[in-house]
Amino acid sequence: MAETLRPERRLLGACARIDQIEQDAELAACVASQFSSVTPEIHLKWNSVENKEGQFWFGPVDRLIAFAQRNGQRVHGHALIWEQSTPDWALHQLRRDGDWGLVERHIHRVMGRYRDVIGDWDVVNEPIDTQNGRNGLRRNTFQQVFGSNYIERALETAHEAAPQARLLLNEYGFEYDNYVEVERRAAFLSLLQRLLDQGVPLHAVGIQAHLDLGKGPIPARDVADFLQAIADMGLAILITELDVKERDYRATIAERDMRVSDEVRRYLDIALTQPAVESVTTWGVTDRHSWLQVERGDQVDPERFGSAAPNRGLPFDSDLRPKPMHVALQDAIGQNQQALRR
Ligand code: G3I
Repeated sequence: MAETLRPERRLLGACARIDQIEQDAELAACVASQFSSVTPEIHLKWNSVENKEGQFWFGPVDRLIAFAQRNGQRVHGHALIWEQSTPDWALHQLRRDGDWGLVERHIHRVMGRYRDVIGDWDVVNEPIDTQNGRNGLRRNTFQQVFGSNYIERALETAHEAAPQARLLLNEYGFEYDNYVEVERRAAFLSLLQRLLDQGVPLHAVGIQAHLDLGKGPIPARDVADFLQAIADMGLAILITELDVKERDYRATIAERDMRVSDEVRRYLDIALTQPAVESVTTWGVTDRHSWLQVERGDQVDPERFGSAAPNRGLPFDSDLRPKPMHVALQDAIGQNQQALRR
């Protein structure tokens, strides 16, 4: 199993796409110099590696890994089982045949190929759904075909495929004080306890931490207790997808950037007091390539819209200039990143 990092040696990572890095020298330089680990944003997902049945497309993963290795960076394995990134042909076959062998072959193929370079894997992504799920678990094809213990089976299969790997569940929606997130925290903790009671190979959790300026203040005590409960189970914690969704785009750029950065500081002040938290990864690097968009219901000044969009919830702006969020990350974690490279 990979070495557990001491809190003072926390890693700062970012998700990235090799096609964007290859087309953008500034982005490449930024990713290479500012982060100690990279997470493939899409290339490792089932619908990327095998979009058409039997036609494998590992090129982008291989190239991102080569990039990371040239820069002494780690690579985080994201994500083996996630309904949203499972190709239609596989979902169809699973529903038709109910054959776990299909899942097994996928996990073995991907983990087997990268066993020596990727130490940590998001085995199941986003299994929780307290609103429309069953016993807090998301109703997805895997759950409907194999029952709720598809999670156990996926972890066991992953352990067979790469016995040295650290295996994670990766999940969102734990940061705020509303009834949905209260229930999500409880449902996640009971899932973890159930898995550990059964002796299932589970070593760490990914807390996505998609922060949201429309969700009110972060309840420090609740978030700290939640992370402590995970740590008490003996699991390591990785913050895997940190970013900030803005809701009010009408202020000046400077004000907006401060709001984003303040939220990141507030969250990391809470999260990084927990020694089990060993890394922080942002879900993207620059607003130039951000998955976060202005959404219906957001507050937008029509006259300012053109220059004010897009969302500014990542550490670098569209011109790759560092923003206050970058400073917040540096203050919380970023020093000594060069020393952490392999
Ligand atoms: O590459 C194809 C392109 O050929 C095609 O024309 C186009 C048409 O839709 O799709 C392109 O693929 C898109 C891909 O991103 C690359 O741009 C997919 O549709 C789109 O679904 C995919 O979105 C990614 C999403 O996960 C689903 O895989 C986002 O970039 C990525 O940021 C997002 O990341 C997720 C994490 O994995 C899990 N947690 C939430 C997070 C944000 O949604």
